[in-house]
Amino acid sequence: MPATAKDSPKRITTHVLQEMKNRKEKIAMLTAYDYSMAKIIDRAGMDVILVGDSASNVMAGHETTVPITLNEMIYHASAVVRAIKRALVIVDLPFGTYQGNTIEALSSAIRIMKETGAHGIKLEGGEEVAESVSRILSAGIPVMGHLGLTPQSIHKFGTYVVRAQEEKEAKKLVHDAHILEEAGCFAIVLEKIPATLAARVTKELKIPVIGIGAGKKVDGQVLVLHDMLGITQEFSPRFLRRYHNLDQEITKAVINYIDDIKNLDFPNEKEQY
Ligand code: KIV
Repeated sequence: MPATAKDSPKRITTHVLQEMKNRKEKIAMLTAYDYSMAKIIDRAGMDVILVGDSASNVMAGHETTVPITLNEMIYHASAVVRAIKRALVIVDLPFGTYQGNTIEALSSAIRIMKETGAHGIKLEGGEEVAESVSRILSAGIPVMGHLGLTPQSIHKFGTYVVRAQEEKEAKKLVHDAHILEEAGCFAIVLEKIPATLAARVTKELKIPVIGIGAGKKVDGQVLVLHDMLGITQEFSPRFLRRYHNLDQEITKAVINYIDDIKNLDFPNEKEQY
């Protein structure tokens, strides 16, 4: 068992994450969308499991995160929660379930909490979602913010390039980060922004800042599971470190299985009744 899980076997809460930031211990976060993977990741000692709306891409094969529904997120999140003993489980509010008004945002968050057993929700945006953040928090639901490259706005951005490189957008991002902290978010994700900007936000905020493509001077890191395991091959941004090449490994295993069947090698005597 890795040092982190062995040394701190207690359940991870939002308070534990705050303590980790305070004592400068890095936070490890990874996505998961199903029971079997979540079980492995939790046992390995992951601090936070994000049931990301990236499920829309990696599980359902959509081009963007826009199409995934609240019911689909609830399906993925409840499977993940059933597997978890230690990690904090956060679930993305999908596109179209919180931008309309604060009541819609609250009822979407309540459905996630009641129907999945997750520990909090994440939503994208800054000042424009601050009222919804406060309303969701008033029901006792922890909220994680998400700034920078916010994939639900891909049709507005038009491209997945690094965000906040220009002064005006960088200034707005810093402003939004403070607004989210004041509204009560317990943490924020910064996606694909310059490392110096992420470092500044991390220094200025008291709450934990988790980066993806935001450099190392943040309080923690998050990646998409299928990207870091090398299951997805077509997606290779600079920030992605691949820890395995599962596409190749799985392909090899499946080819061997097909060959064994065709060559009458499977099943053998010992594999029958
Ligand atoms: O949906 C997701 O996987 C995410 C992470 C990339 C932060 O939001």
